[in-house]
Amino acid sequence: MTRRFAIVLAAGQGTRMKSSLYKVLHPVCGKPMVQHVVDQLKPLQLDAVVTVVGFGADRVKEQLGDSTSYVIQEEQLGTGHAVMQAAQELENKEGTTVVVCGDTPLLTSETMEALLQHHEQTQAKVTILTAENSSPDGYGRIVRNTQNVVEKIVEHKDATEEERKITEINTGTYCFDNQALFQVLKHVSNDNAQGEYYLPDVIEILKGQGEKIAAYRTNDFEETIGVNDRVALSRAEQIMRKRINERHMKNGVTLIDPEHTYIGADVEIEQDVTIYPGSMIEGDTTIKTGAVIGPNSEIKNCEIGEQTVIKQSVAHDSKIGARVNIGPFAHIRPLSDIHDDVKIGNFVEVKKSIVEEGSKASHLSYIGDAEIGKGVNIGCGTITVNYDGERKYKTIIEDDAFIGCNSNLVAPVTVKRGSYVAAGSTITKDVPEKALSIARSRQVNKEGYADKLKKMKKD
Ligand code: UD1
Ligand code: CA
Repeated sequence: MTRRFAIVLAAGQGTRMKSSLYKVLHPVCGKPMVQHVVDQLKPLQLDAVVTVVGFGADRVKEQLGDSTSYVIQEEQLGTGHAVMQAAQELENKEGTTVVVCGDTPLLTSETMEALLQHHEQTQAKVTILTAENSSPDGYGRIVRNTQNVVEKIVEHKDATEEERKITEINTGTYCFDNQALFQVLKHVSNDNAQGEYYLPDVIEILKGQGEKIAAYRTNDFEETIGVNDRVALSRAEQIMRKRINERHMKNGVTLIDPEHTYIGADVEIEQDVTIYPGSMIEGDTTIKTGAVIGPNSEIKNCEIGEQTVIKQSVAHDSKIGARVNIGPFAHIRPLSDIHDDVKIGNFVEVKKSIVEEGSKASHLSYIGDAEIGKGVNIGCGTITVNYDGERKYKTIIEDDAFIGCNSNLVAPVTVKRGSYVAAGSTITKDVPEKALSIARSRQVNKEGYADKLKKMKKD
């Protein structure tokens, strides 16, 4: 079998994005564009993937890790020059090389596989992935001769009025005979409107050398969108969102209003989950069967158990068990571990805490740096006082303890198994097992004092 390689072009700054974030790192549905591209290369069974980095090289490498090797393009002299940098890795190898841009996040492995197969069948030296686009401004145009054979690609800025009318565009994705690619790149000049070494110029040169040129036209232009500015970024986001949402719906997830449901590219959702509008589910999140999310919930990097309900709430970097009830208006902050059958009610904030089976914090509480056992009742308005201005301390509440309303638990402190804390207490010392702790000033009733007060006011 022919060996297959890929080169990902990701060295440009992306001036048109007007951003301090390098273009290929801009996220589409929560995942950087270049990561989408590299992920779609994975099923193609490639022998090597080389990514050309330049602007923001360290950040791009950090993002892609060791799923690809890297070459540096010190100066951004054009896409042809960028590919040339991969010569040190690939130049003499026999095989087929896919060249793809890091700013085409919607391109699928299926289309790239179809392109590769077309290329391998026709035995052309190069096969261009093209698409029809009724508003082709900005894209390179495919110029065909009277026999409909591809002659060359002309960049928008270099095109004549006539050429600009062509609606077949260069998607920026190609398959090359690897050795022919590096041979022909040496002949590319920068004599054009942008003073750059254009990769598409290799087409005309190969043609001049009498080599076979092929084009594979996809009928899905949307998949090939190149993101150069924020307008295209939002378009890509919209298309990707639709694609992701339809995949989940086909897998048995109910989205009440898919237009207003935002699910990250890597989120996993089991069947019979229902998601209400205004919900953003991002990052490395998994949601188990029967869960109900939203409306208006924000969930990032969470594991959510079966039949859990999360309404109008925010949860980040946490584990939430089965049949848990969260919200409305709860905030689950990072490193929380909420076990099965727990209730976290309205205006409750949980941070870096474990809450074990069946415990309840139904209203208006702050639970931070705490370990809460099973069957605990946290009364309305309870606060774990975890911070002295310098350090954070832990609160431990053991199984079956009952914390009365409006209590302060001043950490470090432990409320032992089965004990009671009276409402309004400020607990600064450990509470023994099964004890009742009252830590508030005693009530004094002054009989008849109201009349006395009124009289004092009159005088
Ligand atoms: C390019 C094509 C155009 C095609 C379009 C498809 C060229 C000259 N033009 O134009 O025909 O229709 O893509 O989207 O190739 N890059 C580098 N180093 C460089 C320059 C660019 O790594 O020196 C990378 C960029 O990071 C980007 C990709 O190459 O990921 C494409 O570059 P870009 O400037 O976006 O090219 P377009 O103008 O979109
Ligand atoms: Ca582009």
